[in-house]
Amino acid sequence: MAKRIQALGSNGKIILDMGTGPGTLALIAAKKGAKRVVATDIDPACIEAANRNAKEHGLSNVIEVVQSDGFEKVSGSFDMIIGNLPFRDKGWENIVISAKDLYSRFLTEAPNYLNKGGTILIVTASFADVGFIRSLVDNTGLTVKELVEHKFHTDWIVFQLT
Ligand SMILES: C[S@@+](CC[C@H](N)C(=O)[O-])C[C@H]1O[C@@H](n2cnc3c(N)ncnc32)[C@H](O)[C@@H]1O
Repeated sequence: MAKRIQALGSNGKIILDMGTGPGTLALIAAKKGAKRVVATDIDPACIEAANRNAKEHGLSNVIEVVQSDGFEKVSGSFDMIIGNLPFRDKGWENIVISAKDLYSRFLTEAPNYLNKGGTILIVTASFADVGFIRSLVDNTGLTVKELVEHKFHTDWIVFQLT
């Protein structure tokens, strides 16, 4: 995913990084000149880590970290929307994540937040239900490019939607 972001370029772009975790992809986009990055996650620990990392890299003026379940707290529109979401169901404390529900919500809603000429990137892996995600991607009606990289005995599939 990092390679794809760099290949497409983030210079001057407004970017949404959903499921930012510690903010790695948001940092890459910001370091490569993004105008603004909104980095969201549902997990408060990730929000804290992403904020800390943005600050440590001197990029708090570019990266806005927002705690949000999917698009719940997202506003505005973006030139690039990145989704590196959980591949499997997960639950901790009072948070329960259904991976299929999340991908489904992401791919239904993301096109509504995309600027004209923008790109949506979503990544999955061969151990996940790739067929399910492919069907969601196809249902968006956008043009789809599928890029596969083999690493750690796993195929990593990035869907690029424009
Ligand atoms: C596979 S990790 C990706 C982390 C990071 N983007 C990276 O590339 O290293 C998935 C992230 O999605 C977040 N997440 C899970 N459910 C979410 C939801 N409903 N809304 C937003 N983020 C969510 C998790 O907390 C986790 O940080």
